Amino acid sequence: MGQGYFVTGTDTGTGKTTVSCALLRAFAAQGKKAVGMKPVVAGSENGHWHDVEQLIATSNISAARAHVNPYAFDPPVSPHIAAQQAGVEIDLAVIQHAYQVLSSQSDVVIVEGAGGFLVPLNAQQTGADLARALNLPVILVVGMRLGCLNHALLTAQAIKIAGLTLAGWVASGIDPQMLALEENIATLEQRLDGPLLGKVPFDLEMDIQESARLLDIVTL
Ligand SMILES: Nc1ncnc2c1ncn2[C@@H]1O[C@H](COP(=O)(O)OP(=O)(O)OP(=O)(O)O)[C@@H](O)[C@H]1O
Ligand SMILES: [Mg+2]
Repeated sequence: MGQGYFVTGTDTGTGKTTVSCALLRAFAAQGKKAVGMKPVVAGSENGHWHDVEQLIATSNISAARAHVNPYAFDPPVSPHIAAQQAGVEIDLAVIQHAYQVLSSQSDVVIVEGAGGFLVPLNAQQTGADLARALNLPVILVVGMRLGCLNHALLTAQAIKIAGLTLAGWVASGIDPQMLALEENIATLEQRLDGPLLGKVPFDLEMDIQESARLLDIVTL
């Protein structure tokens, strides 16, 4: 069994896929076999799930889609609602099995969560239960915008309550208008119990290779 990380975000749309792909490239640059996993995705465009396609395209080993993405739903709604509408129950044991297969095929598995850390997955369980079932250190992608300090600190607290480690966090530049960006980053450096792995500036043109170079994964 190799390394694995659970990538969560302060919210949906904060840069988890972008950072997960950058992490895959950064591990590949160390000569590792790195595979992405998106256990649950909700929201398709013309039959395509963007996150899943991107993670598959960026992984440097090929893995069965059923293991990379055990659960996919069309409507862009919370996974527990999408699953209920589809008449499916999201089962963490299925995801655990898929993870174990991927882990046996690679050196590192990057697991991108859905939405934020406490997103409901079924009637009882949330993304935190999934991260705990996989027993993975967590990487928090902070979408740098007004309100992110509260969201980041709440998420860090939830990670701690789940009994998991914050392996690091990434400052993800999703708002080009954000005021006091560096002061916000400094605030989180001071208050989060895990290292800043890198700052990804807002840049619509940035490719994965470039964002991978911005991450320092030596502590991972
Ligand atoms: N550094 C950046 N500069 C500019 N745009 C960015 C940056 N990072 C992410 N984005 C854009 O922000 C949007 C959300 O990013 P991304 O899809 O990585 O978020 P996510 O957290 O994975 O979302 P989801 O919750 O849907 O999985 C995308 O359109 C992406 O292209
Ligand atoms: Mg995503």
